[in-house]
Amino acid sequence: MKKSLAIMAGAVTLVLSSQTFAASDMDLWVGSKIYDRAFGRGCATCHDIATNPNLIKNIKDGSLSFSQFKATVINGKNAMPKAAAAMDTVGKKKGYTGDKAIKAVFDYLSAGGGKIKKPKK
Ligand code: HEC
Repeated sequence: MKKSLAIMAGAVTLVLSSQTFAASDMDLWVGSKIYDRAFGRGCATCHDIATNPNLIKNIKDGSLSFSQFKATVINGKNAMPKAAAAMDTVGKKKGYTGDKAIKAVFDYLSAGGGKIKKPKK
């Protein structure tokens, strides 16, 4: 009895956490498209090469939170241009604008970047 309760509690936790945290395949795919195509040339024109911040590494090691990521993307920072409009331009074809577009790119980078296959649906 106790054991089955614990299993049920575990299942509930799993369902809740997947709803809160898991990015869908579509999120990752659109995120990758935005990362590749914003400003025409993509974020990687400047990022994840050479001396500019390595976004994937900084997100993975916890030094770049979603709120910092979002603030920099919206406001720009020194040589980093304001990017929200450029991201919306790419994402809006799939219904990804504003926070949803920014979150998709953050989730894509959190998942390690790289090539994402287009989801079936
Ligand atoms: C023209 C070059 C350029 C492009 C294009 C560019 N960035 Fe940046 N970005 C920078 C530079 C330079 C910085 C460092 C700014 C500073 O701290 O002085 C930066 C910083 C950032 C930061 C803060 C990183 C940290 O660890 O503090 C984020 C987040 C970011 N960029 C996201 C993006 C995203 C997402 C895109 C594509 C939509 C993008 N950038 C496109 C040049 C660029």
